[in-house]
Amino acid sequence: MLTNHNEKGMYSFNIDKFYRNYLKGPKLFKKREALEPSFIPDELPHRNSEIEKIAGITACALKGDVPPNFVCYGMTGTGKTATVRYISQKLAEHCTKPPWWVYINCTVVSTPYRILAHIYNTIVGKEIIPSTGLPKDVILKKLLGLLDQHINDSICFLVLDEIDILIEKKGGNEILYNLTRLNENLDHCRTSVIGISNKLKFMEFLDARVTSNLEEEEPIVFKPYDANQLYDILKLRSEVAFQEGVIDDGVIKLCAGLAAKEHGDARKALQLLRKAGEIAERNQTKKIMENHVEKAQKDIDKDHIVEYIFSMPLQAKLTLTAIFLLSKYTKEHIITSGDIYEVHSELAQFIPNVKQLTHRRISDYINELTLSGLITAITKSMGHYGRTKIVKLDIEFNLIERVLSQIKIVKEYRLLDYKPIILQTDKVKIKNIVFKKLI
Ligand SMILES: Nc1ncnc2c1ncn2[C@@H]1O[C@H](COP(=O)(O)OP(=O)(O)O)[C@@H](O)[C@H]1O
Ligand SMILES: [Mg+2]
Repeated sequence: MLTNHNEKGMYSFNIDKFYRNYLKGPKLFKKREALEPSFIPDELPHRNSEIEKIAGITACALKGDVPPNFVCYGMTGTGKTATVRYISQKLAEHCTKPPWWVYINCTVVSTPYRILAHIYNTIVGKEIIPSTGLPKDVILKKLLGLLDQHINDSICFLVLDEIDILIEKKGGNEILYNLTRLNENLDHCRTSVIGISNKLKFMEFLDARVTSNLEEEEPIVFKPYDANQLYDILKLRSEVAFQEGVIDDGVIKLCAGLAAKEHGDARKALQLLRKAGEIAERNQTKKIMENHVEKAQKDIDKDHIVEYIFSMPLQAKLTLTAIFLLSKYTKEHIITSGDIYEVHSELAQFIPNVKQLTHRRISDYINELTLSGLITAITKSMGHYGRTKIVKLDIEFNLIERVLSQIKIVKEYRLLDYKPIILQTDKVKIKNIVFKKLI
């Protein structure tokens, strides 16, 4: 049997006991997946007018006519994807010959080639078109043939979700143009494109001819939810997801209020509720309490910090590493932008193909790190030496150490073990040359 004690009698985690207790503990979830983003609920509160508009646009498909192309806009978590999926289900329930739906998430299937291959493969239900290789016009021709043959005289909806990502890519406009004009080259099948975008301004990046193809109807705008609307959404979901009596309205209101502050994002509200439930279950309590929600919010904030740091460009990561090293070795040391410049230059020398930056660029990165909340920086006048920034890390030291230590280049060059020259008591740097101190 697996034991977790050690010979010296020190504390160690007993996994067997933990699992046994967990099994005996209260069961809070009835259907956990009801809180996952992919779950489609039976009802979508507060999306009546959007559902009504889309139902109106797509209704002609019931009689075999082709609906116009249209676009849905709105910030993340406003229910765009859920609403379009909901409509697809409802339409299928009312059609004698249900339309086809090909759903394309452009963050996952992100190149014009792969989009065509994805549509083709989804319709045949097999990986026929390889993920690279054929010329685009050849696949396009094959796709037209397939649509006419396989779908015949039915309608095929092509949903391009997160379409804003596609437009930033090379060939994005062209593929959209092709997809919105498929009907001109089809004999039997008819296609209709639904674009979904998180960015309200994405149309500005489209060619005028694509815009007119895509906006055959007024765009449907999804507004962020307020705290009361989020409460209704969470209340319904929690009835499906949790056992009866496990969560009070006050706790649901707290989740709704916290998520409303973050742009009224229903995905975040649901994530908070799920995490709070998981924390309560791990703590073996019978109910989900406010402190579980508060802990869940802290965990989510931490996850965001981690994601954000990983997504930063390399030079920003190195600037942050420089600040970290300056804070690591002397907690009292006042960190100036000049120090950060020096340490960044030292780090850059270790890594092939990484340039040293100018004071100006370092200053830009310090501004960006400040805006993202990772550090605070106060500008101070230094008399005739000009102005400098005094910088401080604004997040937990251990958290930042854990994240930086997972960055490939930081790991590879063991940057976290490096002690900056200004903090090495036996060395001094003059005009970029390091001297050993004699006294
Ligand atoms: N009105 C609503 N009622 C119930 N659940 C909703 C509603 N709006 C959004 N959701 C849920 O919130 C999550 C995010 O919604 P989603 O449609 O993915 O947002 P978007 O596509 O706008 O980013 C999903 O789990 C979805 O089911
Ligand atoms: Mg979406």
